[in-house]
Amino acid sequence: MQNNAIGNLTEKEFLDMEIDPSLDLFEEISKLKKEKNAVVLAHYYQEPDIQDVADYIGDSLGLAQNAARTPADMIVFAGVHFMAETAKILNPGKKVLLPDLRAGCSLSDSCPPALFKAFKDKHPDHLVISYINCSAGIKALSDIICTSSNAQLIVESLPIGQKIIFAPDKNLGGYINKKSGRDMVLWNGACMVHEIFSLEKITKLKERHPGAKLIAHPECEEAVLRIADFIGSTTQLLKYSEQDSASTYIVATETGILHSMQRNSPAKTFIAAPPDNACVCNDCPHMKLNTLEKLYLCMKYELPEILMDEDLRLAAKKPIDRMLQLSRELGLAG
Ligand code: 13P
Ligand code: SF4
Repeated sequence: MQNNAIGNLTEKEFLDMEIDPSLDLFEEISKLKKEKNAVVLAHYYQEPDIQDVADYIGDSLGLAQNAARTPADMIVFAGVHFMAETAKILNPGKKVLLPDLRAGCSLSDSCPPALFKAFKDKHPDHLVISYINCSAGIKALSDIICTSSNAQLIVESLPIGQKIIFAPDKNLGGYINKKSGRDMVLWNGACMVHEIFSLEKITKLKERHPGAKLIAHPECEEAVLRIADFIGSTTQLLKYSEQDSASTYIVATETGILHSMQRNSPAKTFIAAPPDNACVCNDCPHMKLNTLEKLYLCMKYELPEILMDEDLRLAAKKPIDRMLQLSRELGLAG
């Protein structure tokens, strides 16, 4: 991740900036959007206030597709670093901002480029498909990027005999191997949030709510996916919860999605799947670094900005373009 100095300020000075408490931040953010021709793109894992102020809320594929076509001059990315970095890769001429530069991703961190390069070199005849939750350095070493909503279709679009490395998420990779009958070589990475669910507690919760359906993100461990009624990306889980006829859902993904689920289906009950300890570990600590206050400051001062080396950007763009092209061909609209 890039250096955390923010313009002429240290990270601490920037984060300590005071905001006039009489300001209505919703109104201020909306004024700044117009003044600066800015768009706020937010992931479903963001806190409710940020989702409510966003111009677009989506999963990683929808966000990348939106970033690729926005006419705005400034993209304010309410998500984590790899998402804002992807927006910058697609928009070198635009200002791309991330409210808190420290918003990283444990899954992305589990795959350092130097180690991955050595791993890739051991499999010279393999094509590399990387989940978008990775750094620009990993993207630059990849042939195709995918997200949780298009991974299976992208893998299945390749010839049966094609040898594939899938990185960095072993859970998503294992799930796609099972669904597609492929035997992709998996990088041993995982997301700290999706590996925390307790099978035992989920099973007990299902017994207490016999009509409830378990819906899970494919970053969850195999044992959870095995008992899920539906598996999909955040957008797919949201759509399923709107269209399906059950009245209660146990949701095995980050808790931020519950806000959009509850807003879109007010009569239904959504229960966050329990983690295997007493903490709130199914809140992503990286996603939750962004706050409405930081979003406001970031739009006002146009900091912190995502900056990238041009050679790295060009190398990382190729596999993203390939994903966007394949998604269009496969009819996956954002
Ligand atoms: P999707 O946005 O593809 O559902 O992935 C979830 C996630 O973990 C993003 O960090
Ligand atoms: Fe990364 Fe997991 Fe957080 Fe998504 S939920 S940003 S994969 S740590």
